[in-house]
Amino acid sequence: MCGIIGCVSEKDCYGALYDGLKRLEYRGYDSAGIAVLGEKLEIFKKKGGVANLSAFYARGGTGIGHTRWATHGAPSDTNAHPHRAGKIALVHNGIVENYASLKEELEEEGERFRSETDSEVLAKLVARAYRGDLLAAVREALSRAEGSYAVAVIAEDRPGELVAAKYKSPLVAGKGAAGLFVCSDVPALAGAADYIAQAEDGEFVRIAGGEIFFYDKELRPLPKTFFRPQRELCALSVAGGGYFMRAEIGEIPRALRDTLGLLKQTDFAPCARVLRGAKRVFAVACGTAYHSALVFADVAEREAGVPVICHTAGEFRYRPPLIGEGELLIAVSQSGETADTLEAARLAKARGAYVVAVTNIGCSSLAALADFCIVMGAGAEIAVAATKSYNCQLLCLYYLAAQLLFFKEQRYPDWFYALDDLCSAAERAFSCFAEADALADGLKSARAIYYLGRGLDLCTAKEGALKVKEIACVFAEGYPAGELKHGSLALVEEGFPVVCVSTSRALAKKSENALAEVKSRGGFCALFSQYGDVLEDSCADFKCLLPALPEALMPAVSVIPLQYFAYKMCIERGFDPDKPRNLAKSVTVE
Ligand code: F6R
Repeated sequence: MCGIIGCVSEKDCYGALYDGLKRLEYRGYDSAGIAVLGEKLEIFKKKGGVANLSAFYARGGTGIGHTRWATHGAPSDTNAHPHRAGKIALVHNGIVENYASLKEELEEEGERFRSETDSEVLAKLVARAYRGDLLAAVREALSRAEGSYAVAVIAEDRPGELVAAKYKSPLVAGKGAAGLFVCSDVPALAGAADYIAQAEDGEFVRIAGGEIFFYDKELRPLPKTFFRPQRELCALSVAGGGYFMRAEIGEIPRALRDTLGLLKQTDFAPCARVLRGAKRVFAVACGTAYHSALVFADVAEREAGVPVICHTAGEFRYRPPLIGEGELLIAVSQSGETADTLEAARLAKARGAYVVAVTNIGCSSLAALADFCIVMGAGAEIAVAATKSYNCQLLCLYYLAAQLLFFKEQRYPDWFYALDDLCSAAERAFSCFAEADALADGLKSARAIYYLGRGLDLCTAKEGALKVKEIACVFAEGYPAGELKHGSLALVEEGFPVVCVSTSRALAKKSENALAEVKSRGGFCALFSQYGDVLEDSCADFKCLLPALPEALMPAVSVIPLQYFAYKMCIERGFDPDKPRNLAKSVTVE
């Protein structure tokens, strides 16, 4: 998703902006641009990669940069940011929802637009409001905008000054040897900023006179504490080259170990009353994080007897809001910046519910908004496809489900102490990779794959399907094994591939029935189970033995060969696993 960076430096800022844009690449984008204010204001912007900008250079200490993920208007040089209007250059992340009416109004007043973007409207509004006071002009312009924004703005006649503002899109400010910065996220300031501070919704940031100032929405000065960013969020390279996704799968045991360490230090007492008293619990998230919320719902209901209503965050927001006072919302988000998840959490808070966040980024907007925050220790996740963060989310949510039971009944579930074994089980799951290689080799030309499971295995099936869909561009569907004959079986014909996850002894026979239905229509079956006898007795063509664990914990481990299989399918099919088509890492617009 779009990324913004701004820099004011005593030296030339082009290099710092370029490097910052390279670090923003992981968020996903389709064009990039830089504006530098030296003797004059110069703008370079191009469709395609940040590397395209290396053909340009401009001298000057003040500048802004942008990676664009197209929403309004196709990816093109003209639609790329920065946008210029009068003396102003502006970069924007977010969506100006009322841009059409603003544009019409401005056109009636004689303004001419070059791009199809909503963002150019903001540049025009700032330019019209600018009378030498950049901060006041940005505030005046943004008072007209509806929707979400993080903007960074410079003015041709104000070298050494930069103004930024935030509403529902992430923005941090940072100080480092190379200069003073504003940026969309902390990882993108890795190596550039030694200290950072987070802007909140409605706040403004002004860099001027070699200092960073924060203001509230009335432009009253705000005190801010700068802190050192989590070191592990700043590791942005893969040792020895290769793909981030592969490296991040390899990091799962370490990430689980670090997350468990953090969980053991977390004091859950502040939310004990809510956990004890919660009559109903809601869980919301998007994409992969939603699949971890599904696991939580199953485990918490089963263990603590508390109904958990689980929705994708985007759906939750627009349903009649059932949630209310005394109830609990669990919001799960790796980035802590996903617009739908944030809005769902805001809605729950506004209705008097208690919000627990599970996130990888302790300084994210979600963490700031939540009443209680569980921070996982996955470390920076750069590949767009979530892998290690999913395993860590599951670990956090197991822990939370265990606390739910503990505060109600002063006991932990049977599997609680086996959480200590997750890390070594994850390591053992790596021994399935050779089989996953062979499976990917056999299925690389598949046009579609069904992933089947029952109970908790259904969550794993859904996550396995999402992974292969997003990075290998193969249609895949995660489906309840028992539902196959109610419709989807119609597509199964000679060679049609079906992957089944079957880690529950009680449900194994039921899942096997589904495989028999597939086999008798000529389909190809691959089976993953932790039970040797389940594999032995199966009619599947391909069998993979998973490491053994208490069944409740299996989702955190059985997904690992599926994550790796998706990666391998992607490589076999010639795609880049770190930058899947059309997708962004941090989805900061609705
Ligand atoms: C899939 C993936 C996405 C994210 C989703 C939520 O591999 O990465 O589905 O899980 O966009 O992102 P977060 O967890 O940052 O809220």
